[in-house]
Amino acid sequence: MVTATAPGKVILAGEHAVVYGRPAIAAPVWQVVATATITAAAPGAGCTLIASDLGQVLQLADAGDDEPLAVVTRLTLARLGVAHMPDWRIELRSDIPIASGLGSGAALSTALVRAIFARLGQPAPPAVVSELVYESERFYHGVPSGIDNTVVAYGQPIWFVKGQPPEPFMLAAPILLAIADTGIRSPTVLTVSKVREAWLQDRPRYEAIFDAIGDLVHAARRALEQGDPSALGGLFNANQALLQSMGVSCDAIETLVAAARAAGASGAKLSGAGGGGNIIALVEPTTAPAVHAALVAAGARRVIVTALGA
Ligand code: MEV
Repeated sequence: MVTATAPGKVILAGEHAVVYGRPAIAAPVWQVVATATITAAAPGAGCTLIASDLGQVLQLADAGDDEPLAVVTRLTLARLGVAHMPDWRIELRSDIPIASGLGSGAALSTALVRAIFARLGQPAPPAVVSELVYESERFYHGVPSGIDNTVVAYGQPIWFVKGQPPEPFMLAAPILLAIADTGIRSPTVLTVSKVREAWLQDRPRYEAIFDAIGDLVHAARRALEQGDPSALGGLFNANQALLQSMGVSCDAIETLVAAARAAGASGAKLSGAGGGGNIIALVEPTTAPAVHAALVAAGARRVIVTALGA
């Protein structure tokens, strides 16, 4: 039996604009994980994928090319030169809520790819895992930038520009985040295509928003590398205002963001595609309990307080 895991993720700055070539910063969240376990099945049983959280049981030989988990399994087997169908039972579990901005799809596929590499006794370099997972991300994102598969496969904070090798980087000091779930599921593919349509309607306006986001992502990197969380809080707020003007926020997000700020967070924003999903709020050890309580009181379904870069 082999088991592999992969973390959830947050986008600290730059979502959506990253699809249009601007930089973004993302970090893994290890409090929520996806797990893949491979056990041997009876000879001739073939390969069965069981994703109980998604209510899916797939027989690899029969699964269509519109099944992301089957696609990534086939690609991984091909990459490792496995020509025959293995007799495996692959179980996928995840405590990352789906369509919530925490990279559930990328984490499931990453755990799956890593488990297949491990089962075949092969090392799994992050760049190779990320490339394979990208193929499944197309189903969840439409035109993914590649940031989700990259941060989840590398498992460390990254500076990401579409089409360029990611730059894993060190935070000068850990930051503390409260991550709060609106409880509204919002598939990334829908939000990304909504932004695309709006961009096609009014390119100058959207390009200007993306440029402003790109500028603040550079400033956020400086703040993280210099250990200056007060600057980062203001940048979270500025990023949220731009995401809101882009049409990817919603009432539930605005409610949680306002509650976090009022309770002492130095900044808060949606994280991921928006339209629902999770928000992140920058807190200190002293403000974390009040922010946590305020988020719950404002209707958050789940709040995780996590240190990044610790
Ligand atoms: C989703 O986590 C991030 C988006 O920018 C989409 C993408 O980059 O593929 C919204």
